[in-house]
Amino acid sequence: MISLQHGSSAKNGFHGFNGIRNGVKNAEKISHSLALQVLLEKIDQRTYPETIREEIPAIISHWLQSTNEPPLLVGKKEASAWAKLLKSEFGAGTAKKFPVIDYTVVPFPPPKKARFTFIDLFAGIGGFRVALQKMGGKCVFSSDWDKNAKTTYYENYGEVPFGDIRRLSSEKLYSGRVDLVCGGFPCQPFSIAGVSKKLSLGRKHGFEDENQGILFFEVAKIIKRHRPKAFILENVKHLLRHDKGNTFRSILHVLEKELGYHVHSNVIDAKNFVPQHRERVFIVTGKQIGRAHSELQSLREISYAVFCLKKKNSECLIW
Ligand SMILES: C[S@@+](CC[C@H](N)C(=O)[O-])C[C@H]1O[C@@H](n2cnc3c(N)ncnc32)[C@H](O)[C@@H]1O
Repeated sequence: MISLQHGSSAKNGFHGFNGIRNGVKNAEKISHSLALQVLLEKIDQRTYPETIREEIPAIISHWLQSTNEPPLLVGKKEASAWAKLLKSEFGAGTAKKFPVIDYTVVPFPPPKKARFTFIDLFAGIGGFRVALQKMGGKCVFSSDWDKNAKTTYYENYGEVPFGDIRRLSSEKLYSGRVDLVCGGFPCQPFSIAGVSKKLSLGRKHGFEDENQGILFFEVAKIIKRHRPKAFILENVKHLLRHDKGNTFRSILHVLEKELGYHVHSNVIDAKNFVPQHRERVFIVTGKQIGRAHSELQSLREISYAVFCLKKKNSECLIW
């Protein structure tokens, strides 16, 4: 493991490097981890505002997966400087061409040709991402604030997730088109176990839990900003009954009345697919009011796939 300069490793909560740099020069292709490592070593992270310094591994690793888009939070100028740096460090021939960033060593590399784009919220270790990439989806933004989840995610997908979504949800997370947003927003404020624990500690639950209970509204903000054609949200089954159903009614109100989506929800038990009785409510949409069906064909397949999960041995695209 390399130690990142300027104390960034501990602060940005990302420890997932195995920084082997074996004198690569004049390469047409370099590994994503080498590109990230070199940029983190060469750029002076102290020149960035303190508020974004901890997100630098996420900013760069996201940019490396979409170098034709401006990087989040820092802008185009930085990207030109980073591209120049990689060209001068590795670029082949006198023309010093920008090297191809190679993800072949990653277990779940980004698709070569994307059928659709998606945002992966509360990404954890990337359960949604595995499935969506398999369907040809390209992840354009991921976030999870847990340092172990970040490290695992990086190992799996070659991308460091951004941190606390509450600090980013008002930003445009990706400058291109976003087709789908997915996320299993934290369930403790709504689960039976979580609610009784919070009550026993005299803490608030549901939407009144100011830290975790309001994260659905961050998702709603992101949906409003990016207007994806579809979304898949997931939570514990008890979300349906929490506060006599008022919590779920509020969620539906926001998604349907305020954001204008047709929404479907269903409880799916993962026991037909994994050795665990695990019931979760899935809230999906494949149709935005007023949009033509044809535009949404591939994304409607996703909603369909989620509902297929109910049926044992069904032909299922997700999971
Ligand atoms: C239920 S788990 C999601 C698991 C995920 N679907 C997977 O496949 O691994 C919720 C995740 O939300 C993350 N989280 C909670 N609050 C967050 C916040 N404010 N910003 C970013 N991530 C957060 C947690 O670290 C946790 O990994």
